[in-house]
Amino acid sequence: MPHQPDHTGSDVTGPVDLVVMNGRLVTPEGVYPGGLSVREGAVADILRPDEHPPAHRVIDAAGRYILPGLIDSHVHFRTPGLTHKEDWAHGSRAAAVGGITTVIDMPNTMPPLFDPADAHAKAAEIAGTSLVDFCFHLGVDEARPELLTDVTPREAVSAKVFMAGHHTAPHVIRSPDALTRVFATAAAVGIRLVLHAEDDAVFALLDGWSGPAREYRDYESRRPRTGGIVAVAKVIELVRRHGTAAHVLHVSSAEEVDLLSAAAHAGLPVTFEVTPHHLSFTAADTARLGARIRLSPAIRQEADQRRLWAAVRNGGVTTIGSDHAPHTRTEKSRPVSEAPPGLPGVQELLPAVFTGLRRHFPHDPVDRQLSRLADLVAAAPAALFGIAGRKGRLAPGLDADFVLLDPSATWMMRAEDVAAKCGWSAYEGWTMTGRVELTVRRGEVIWDHEHRTFGTPSGQWLHASPSLHPSSPTTAAVRGELSAD
Ligand code: NCD
Ligand code: ZN
Repeated sequence: MPHQPDHTGSDVTGPVDLVVMNGRLVTPEGVYPGGLSVREGAVADILRPDEHPPAHRVIDAAGRYILPGLIDSHVHFRTPGLTHKEDWAHGSRAAAVGGITTVIDMPNTMPPLFDPADAHAKAAEIAGTSLVDFCFHLGVDEARPELLTDVTPREAVSAKVFMAGHHTAPHVIRSPDALTRVFATAAAVGIRLVLHAEDDAVFALLDGWSGPAREYRDYESRRPRTGGIVAVAKVIELVRRHGTAAHVLHVSSAEEVDLLSAAAHAGLPVTFEVTPHHLSFTAADTARLGARIRLSPAIRQEADQRRLWAAVRNGGVTTIGSDHAPHTRTEKSRPVSEAPPGLPGVQELLPAVFTGLRRHFPHDPVDRQLSRLADLVAAAPAALFGIAGRKGRLAPGLDADFVLLDPSATWMMRAEDVAAKCGWSAYEGWTMTGRVELTVRRGEVIWDHEHRTFGTPSGQWLHASPSLHPSSPTTAAVRGELSAD
């Protein structure tokens, strides 16, 4: 029997701001009947089913699950410079509709976020437009690796490396020396790397041999698993040499899952993410549906999808991130050689993954499936990226971020329901199981499904804490070394 969530009597007197009662509280350890109370934006108490403290507002959650506010640690909200594709007003609405209360944004904007000092201007630009709380991943500039030594968790929770790219992600680290230096520096300053781990040289070789794909049925074979496997093997070797903490993003093939699981089992500090789209589609869908299912990494075969699901269900995967990477309909209509990879997904993450879990594992208890999601999309990303002091769990003192989910509602995803700026979804026409009825961020309702209303865009830039301890050599020594060469 897993232990009950913390229960500490609140010592502040007077009615609380909000009580949610009669629900089923979801934690990574298990699901418990009860509710919670909220005071000044934080969880005041976890409530047993028979506890009804006086409150200014009461929500009856009968028949509903109460999940922790979800954390999507992989979004591209395209600010600055690419706001014709997405912006924080639309992206954060899509997040709220999908039960996500915190996002971590990627740096491949125009210009990219390479200099930690620029994070302050980026946050100032977002201020007043986001419904959800947020932090940033920093980009790594091959020409200026020393910028990495200046980063603090205030500015960025990780440094992102693209080992392969495209028009929307042009800053690729190609040289082995530069990559080695990035791994060494990240280990020394105690920052986690997050990696788009596909090998650019492998793709260049294949393009030179067979030419780029001209039809979508050839897309997967031009961007095959080989690229991922080669890059993941390099990442594992660099982690072994330098001790760098590395989180591999959007893992797409069975072989990469096996390699990374084996490396973690061997004690190396590697973790990995999977996306809802690699769990939901196969290469046959890319061939049939074309540009909308054009992704980087490409969507693979059914056997790969099965391996990804097994890692979600049984362990292995650390986080599920949406890789919300919208492009306009016009951009997606370009010829196969030019259409950009990426799709909107922050709104679809929870419904797509919950629907997939119900469809693939109908005999698993719903409680267990939701517990797993409370880990993969809340507790685990909070711990990995240093925001567990405020986010990721339902516990007294933490931010009152939560979601009411009706597990049995079924509904169809339609284009008119898409909150992302691009206005389309790869899941249009899908019948989803489970509906987000209410999304609450720091005690404020930011999405109310019944009334179709959003809250105020008062999302905050979060102060993360260090999630790693710098190893030797010291930051100062690395700085010296970098300025010496
Ligand atoms: C991403 C984008 O458009 O920013 N696209 C994608 O297909 N995942 C970047 C990337 O990860 O390649
Ligand atoms: Zn990527």
